[in-house]
Amino acid sequence: MDRSNGCREGAVMVDELGVAVVGFGWMGRVHTQAYARLPHHYPQSPRPRLITVAEEVPGRAEEAAERFGFATATRDWREVAADPRVRAVSITAPNFLHREIGVAMAEAGKHIWIEKPVGLTAEDARAVADAVAKAGVQGAVGFNYRNAPAVEAARDLIASGELGTVTHVRIRLFSDYAAHPDGALTWRYERARGGSGVLGDLASHGADLARFLLGAITSLTADTAVFVPERARPTGATAGHARASGGEPGPVENEDYVSCLLRFASGARGVLEACRVSVGEQNNYGFEVHGTRGAVFWDFRRMNELAVSRGSTYQDQPVSTVYVGPGAGEFAAFQPGAAHAMGYDDLKVIEAYRFVRSVAEGVPYGATLGDAVASAAVLDAMTRSAQRGSWVDVGSG
Ligand SMILES: NC(=O)c1ccc[n+]([C@@H]2O[C@H](COP(=O)([O-])OP(=O)(O)OC[C@H]3O[C@@H](n4cnc5c(N)ncnc54)[C@H](O)[C@@H]3O)[C@@H](O)[C@H]2O)c1
Repeated sequence: MDRSNGCREGAVMVDELGVAVVGFGWMGRVHTQAYARLPHHYPQSPRPRLITVAEEVPGRAEEAAERFGFATATRDWREVAADPRVRAVSITAPNFLHREIGVAMAEAGKHIWIEKPVGLTAEDARAVADAVAKAGVQGAVGFNYRNAPAVEAARDLIASGELGTVTHVRIRLFSDYAAHPDGALTWRYERARGGSGVLGDLASHGADLARFLLGAITSLTADTAVFVPERARPTGATAGHARASGGEPGPVENEDYVSCLLRFASGARGVLEACRVSVGEQNNYGFEVHGTRGAVFWDFRRMNELAVSRGSTYQDQPVSTVYVGPGAGEFAAFQPGAAHAMGYDDLKVIEAYRFVRSVAEGVPYGATLGDAVASAAVLDAMTRSAQRGSWVDVGSG
C-alpha cells in the first residue's frame, strides 16, 4: 500500500471507501466500530465512510445510523446491493443469510467482509467464495482469533522449528452463552437458520486456528450432543444471546457440544472440543501445541500472553510467560509496549484493516473465503462422522 498518497484500487486512487453493514446485532456494531477506529490505529489506511446500514428489526437501522453516523438506513439489504456509493459491505446477519447476501453483494461488485461460519454448510461457503472469485472482489472472513498478535507469534514460533516437530495440539472453545435454560430460542438454535449450532458458532474458529497453526486437517472422528433440548421462543426482537421465559417452548435443533479427534497432513494429531452450555466457562478458548522439543500455550482470556517451553532438556523443561509486544503481529498499532492489554474489539480493527488493505491493493490479507470453505469442510466432516460413528476424510469442501 502506498501509505503517503492513499491507495490504489485497480487503476483508481481511493482515499475513502464507502462501506455498509447488513445486520446490526453484536457483530454489526463491532464491525462498525472497527471501521470508525481504523484512522486511529492505521492513519494511512483509506478511510471507511459509513454509507448505510440494513437491519430488519424496525427502527434498529435508524438508531444505528443516529448513534454511529451512517448517512442512511434501510430495512432492505437489497438497497445496499444497488447503492453505487457502497464499495464494501460487512455481512453480519445470521448464518442462514450469509449465502444469499454474500453472493448478491459480490455479484453487485461489492467487496465483502463476512462473518464466520459463512453459511450453514461448506457448500454455502463455496457458493460465496465462487461468487467473490468470479466478480474479482475481495472477501474477508471474521476468523478474528487468528488476528491476535500472540497467536501470530505462536504460529511464527511453530514455523521456526524451535519447538521441534509438532506432535499434537489441543484446542478448546468452552462458553456459557447458552448455558442459561432461559436463553431464548433464537435463530442460533434452529438448523435452518443457525446451521450446526456450536459447530458453526465456536468449532469454526477452532478449525481455523488448527489450520492456521498446523496446516491442513485430513481426517477426523467426532461426537456431538444437545444438552438443553428445549428453550422458550422469544416474544420480541432479539440480538446476541437474549433471555426469554414464558414464551412457547420449542426444540433446540442443533448441537450444544462437539468433541473431535483430528489428523493433520503433517502427521500431527489433535483434539478439538467446543461447547456453548458449559457452566463456569466464560470464553475459555485456547490451544496447547506440543512439539518434540517444546510447547506453546494460548488462552484467549489472557490474549496477549503465551506460555512457552523451549530448550533442550525435554524433561522438567520450564514454561515461561511471554507478554507479546510491538514485534508481534499488529500489536504496535495498538499499544507501545508489552503487557499493555489489547482486547477483543481490537482484533476486529485488525480485521477491518486487512480487509480495507486487500481492497486497496487488490490482493488478500488475513482470512479469506478459501479459509471459510476449509473450516466449513471440517465442520461438515464432524457432522458426517458423528452420524456414522466413524473416522471420515475432510476433503476440500
Ligand atoms: N467472529 C466472531 O467472534 C463472532 C461473534 C459473534 C457472532 N459472529 C457471527 O456474526 C453473525 C451475527 O451474529 P450476532 O451475534 O451479531 O447476531 P445478532 O443476532 O446479535 O445480530 C444479527 C442481526 O441481524 C439482523 N437481521 C436478521 N435478518 C436480517 C435481514 N434479512 N436483513 C438485515 N438484518 C437482519 C437481526 O435482526 C440482528 O440484529 C453470525 O453469523 C455469527 O456466527 C461472529
